Amino acid sequence: MARAPLVDRLRASAPQISVGVLTADWMTLGSQLRLIEGAGVDLLHFDVMDGVFCPMLTMGPPVVAGLKTRLLKDVHLMIEDPLSKLDAFVAAGADIITVHAESTRHSHRVLQALGRMTNANDPHRGIVRGIALNPGTPLEVLEPLAGEFDMVLVLAVNPGWSGQKFIASTCERVKRLRESLGDTALICVDGGVTRDNIGNIARLGADIIVTGSAVFDGKTPLENAKAMQGALR
Ligand code: DX5
Ligand code: ZN
Repeated sequence: MARAPLVDRLRASAPQISVGVLTADWMTLGSQLRLIEGAGVDLLHFDVMDGVFCPMLTMGPPVVAGLKTRLLKDVHLMIEDPLSKLDAFVAAGADIITVHAESTRHSHRVLQALGRMTNANDPHRGIVRGIALNPGTPLEVLEPLAGEFDMVLVLAVNPGWSGQKFIASTCERVKRLRESLGDTALICVDGGVTRDNIGNIARLGADIIVTGSAVFDGKTPLENAKAMQGALR
């Protein structure tokens, strides 16, 4: 399976932030996203929750499709039976699709299916195949999936809500993962990221760092996004 060209683009710009849209002010979303685009952000993170895999319900493919933006769409599926929904999220314009290892008996099959799909925005871009692990899931589940994923998303909170506190043991997991993966896959860290901890998370080897409430809380998303990016330089 040839690697998606998008993987190389993401690696070249690592570490970078992926801005979680869930906590934005949806009344002024268009202007907020334009400001963030102007600040050099490349990735927009969609937290898709079905109320079954995790307690909360959020958004589905129409929302992913409906946000017209030049930002890459980074879709984090916290849903049961992701295989049956992949087509809909691909058609909605997902550039990165991440499924949870705990959400399906057939994570290998889901990743294989993702690898055969074509990016609806640009067929030459490819789709980045992500596998996510809850804080309680051992890293060893990744071993039999080697070669079938481009990115590992390490949850630093239990899935369900924005604005939770970063679980400290995540740091050790990210460090171990960087050592074991080398440059064979990207690492994404998601949940509880703040201005205070983002620099440390990047130093542990994360390539993509999701930040939701730390950007959209308060009235200054542009300034917040710039501060988060600045902490990575
Ligand atoms: C957790 C989600 C995260 C979260 C990020 O269920 O996957 O993406 O919403 O939000 P913050 O940055 O506020 O923790
Ligand atoms: Zn997420």
